[in-house]
Amino acid sequence: MWLKGGQVGRKPVLWPGSQIHYLTVLQAPRYEEYEISYLTENRFNYLGDGFDVREYDGRDLMWYYENMPLLKETGYPVLAPSKIPAAGGKYRTLPGAPGHTQNIIEIDNPKIIVEQFRKSVALAKDAGFDGVELLSQGGYLLHNFLGSRSNKRTDNYGGSTENRCRFILEVIDVIIEIWGPGRTGIKICPPDDLQDSAISYDELSETYGYLVPQLVARELGFINLCRRGCLLGDPDDEVSPPNSRPQGCELPPGYDPLQQFGPMIKYPGSKTKLMVNHGYTPEEANRLVQEGKIDLVTFGRPFISNPDLVTRIKNGVPLAINDRGGDLYYGPYKTVDEGYNDWPCAV
Ligand SMILES: Cc1cc2nc3c(=O)[nH]c(=O)nc-3n(C[C@H](O)[C@H](O)[C@H](O)COP(=O)(O)O)c2cc1C
Repeated sequence: MWLKGGQVGRKPVLWPGSQIHYLTVLQAPRYEEYEISYLTENRFNYLGDGFDVREYDGRDLMWYYENMPLLKETGYPVLAPSKIPAAGGKYRTLPGAPGHTQNIIEIDNPKIIVEQFRKSVALAKDAGFDGVELLSQGGYLLHNFLGSRSNKRTDNYGGSTENRCRFILEVIDVIIEIWGPGRTGIKICPPDDLQDSAISYDELSETYGYLVPQLVARELGFINLCRRGCLLGDPDDEVSPPNSRPQGCELPPGYDPLQQFGPMIKYPGSKTKLMVNHGYTPEEANRLVQEGKIDLVTFGRPFISNPDLVTRIKNGVPLAINDRGGDLYYGPYKTVDEGYNDWPCAV
């Protein structure tokens, strides 16, 4: 059970029942099936167990971690390195839902947030998790520090590549202090374009060419390298179709972050395992493992239409393909069970 930062929609995510136990995780820390998403939705920040009032910048702010429309309705702020709304709104562009990234507060002192991470991951340890995966992609807070389009800071956390990577590395370092490097991982997505997060190829190369070796030097347990935003994978991707990158952020033909950054992570003597993600099939993943190019793969969406995904892969049973469209994954939904509980197992 790993604490995994990131978004939670209106539903349990990777572990059935997660949402139910989510609220009680800190009081009842021994649940087997839950997820705490502890920080950083896109340009806002969520912490702890449900509603929470926390002091930020001399003010008491209410935080809610889960339901982004609620944040939108209540007008609670979106924290960001710089006050720059994501074009097209937040999270997903849904009809009639313009997003809520207007209500942005630029973080004055990132060290306050670093300390919040320290507290959250210490709580996760008390709660019995096995490790922490830091989410640094998808246009969430950490990712926003990395990119020069979302980070216009003029202090030590903006400007140069080293400065833009500083926040992530400070967060990683406090996680390592609590957990040790072997139980700390990070998810990065150099070509990401979700939520208006794309950067130019030159910047991508320079930023991750600096960041990745810094992470490997810390002997992290794993780096989860996501390939969203490039033309690989499923061209009919229902959630984030490839090749939607803005002008100036084009990638070289056939660009694959695994080719560019894989060898910086997976090499003889490296203590950091290389995990890959986004649109992989079991066949492609097996081939890459056999070729010695990756150590691990993560599957996300196939788990929803295949509740028995692992068994199917083990037994060579064909996977059910989602024929219900992108709303299956992140809503909006009509009922709370829809999608998650109504796909059959293969007999
Ligand atoms: C409902 C849902 C919730 C997700 N929540 C998270 C999350 O909290 N953190 C995260 O890093 N990724 C999250 N993801 C993304 C997946 O981890 C994965 O990166 C993505 O689905 C791409 O992999 P796939 O092509 O195998 O689905 C979520 C995916 C889905 C479908």
